[in-house]
Amino acid sequence: MKKTYGIVAHPVSHSLSPQMQSVAFAHHNLETEFLRFDIVPEELEEFIRRVRNENISGLAVSLPHKETIIPHLDSISETGKKIGAVNTVFWRDGLLCGDNTDAEGFWKSITNGNSKYKNAAVIGAGGASRAIVYILKKHGIDVTIFNRTAEKAQQLAHRFNASSKALSEFMGCNFGIVVNSTSVGLKEEKSPIPHDAWKGFTGTAFDAIFDPLQTKFLRNAQSYGSQVVTGEKMLLYQGIKQFKIWTGLDAPEEKMRNALEKALVTR
Ligand code: ATR
Repeated sequence: MKKTYGIVAHPVSHSLSPQMQSVAFAHHNLETEFLRFDIVPEELEEFIRRVRNENISGLAVSLPHKETIIPHLDSISETGKKIGAVNTVFWRDGLLCGDNTDAEGFWKSITNGNSKYKNAAVIGAGGASRAIVYILKKHGIDVTIFNRTAEKAQQLAHRFNASSKALSEFMGCNFGIVVNSTSVGLKEEKSPIPHDAWKGFTGTAFDAIFDPLQTKFLRNAQSYGSQVVTGEKMLLYQGIKQFKIWTGLDAPEEKMRNALEKALVTR
């Protein structure tokens, strides 16, 4: 029987998960449909009832539901609990479960399994920062969080045993990797930090934003000779891990990468 998977978000029309996941299901000849569920926050509870009743096989979860979905599920992985957010919903032994693959997706995109970083700066202290700070700390990296609103940086730092500083104090030269997890630069020519703050930087810059791929943040870093990693890699690797959780099968990385690249060009 045909299985149903989907992404739940609001808005959901811009999501690239359907294009990326559909090729993985097709690769394994799995008869599935991958739907977009545009669900406003007030309808999330009812939607989860529908997931249970209609036996929807799995969900990718995006904004604004990653945190609020947690109380509606039966079981949350340790990673999901520690981050406080879920991006993957799946069934195990009749229970509707939540996990978070954003953290691993980020880690894979900056290391490819081989870490060389000792210290990191994370710019931003919102929802996207949590998975990133969590996984950097898990791998023993010193993390300093820089945020416009200092209290939010302090709270996040406290939660994950990291340090925090004012955004104005940021100096790239002190860090092996610098991550933008703010929304600054999304569909705009702006960076959360000024160009000259990168002076002397020889590390890696990563931007969680992938629209555009070459953000001002990354181009500024690159102008000082740094390595850059674009944000769609995190999307790819979180999706690969998601597919494995849903199906138990290895995702076809090259096919998913190609589908994602195509979707990025044609969006
Ligand atoms: P998300 O859940 O997607 O991370 P969010 O919780 O709204 O979104 O967080 C957005 C992040 O971008 C925050 O760190 C925010 O800084 P504040 O905590 O000071 O609001 C940051 N941000 C948004 N606009 C910014 C700007 N113009 N300059 C610097 N940081 C900005």
